[in-house]
Amino acid sequence: MDKLKALYEGKAKTAWETADPNYVVMEFRNDTSAFDGGKTASLARKGLVNSAVDEHVMTALSAAGIETHFERRIDANNVLVKRLQMLPVECVVRNRASGSIVRRLGVEDGATLAPPVFELFLKNDELHDPMINASHCVTFGWASAEQLAEMEALTLQVNAVLAPMFLAAGMILVDYKLEFGLFEGRMVLGDEFSPDGCRLWDATTLRKLDKDVFRQDLGDLVESYQEVATRLGVVLP
Ligand code: TYD
Repeated sequence: MDKLKALYEGKAKTAWETADPNYVVMEFRNDTSAFDGGKTASLARKGLVNSAVDEHVMTALSAAGIETHFERRIDANNVLVKRLQMLPVECVVRNRASGSIVRRLGVEDGATLAPPVFELFLKNDELHDPMINASHCVTFGWASAEQLAEMEALTLQVNAVLAPMFLAAGMILVDYKLEFGLFEGRMVLGDEFSPDGCRLWDATTLRKLDKDVFRQDLGDLVESYQEVATRLGVVLP
């Protein structure tokens, strides 16, 4: 499927229009950014590793009966996905406390959160993705109460599939962010699932294997992402 025109360029991915209005090519670039674009880098192989992990995770979710936008991987950095009408809301699940919840609520870093915490953020770079609640979504028309209920249920279903999957591969799924959109009226998982949008810790040593390696200068980011892929059984070129 040929890439015709860039529809949207994000910090690490570009969405390309195709000849079919129902499908988009999502390109995983090598660009990396953190702290709202305050720290950036281009890292060889990052795009291909993330697209391989995304393919693996989206395939596992589909197999578990969760509808995703993922159709197929086209080549190293490009995947074909359904074109969704995205909702401007990010759904975050936390199995352990880390990142913004520690800063916001003063809970202990690494504390187990049972049941997992579910949070909503507004997708808005200018406002730095502020945390929002269901009332904001309904009043401002970002998502209806029914859509929110569906997104929360799906986000927790994803957790039931992915937390054990990562644990079996020796990793704790600390937290992650999902984005949803509508396809023919159905709520479908969109965006990506890669180490860029989640926290993963080694299950024994708690060593970080995700974008915190870049945020906190803990080592070679792509090596960490490759380790995540290899542990999951993803074969990389
Ligand atoms: P969070 O702890 O709220 O923010 P930060 O990573 O800046 O400390 O993030 C929780 C998880 O969700 C984390 O794995 C990163 C991911 N996330 C994104 O990838 N993008 C976002 O815009 C947000 C709000 C979270």
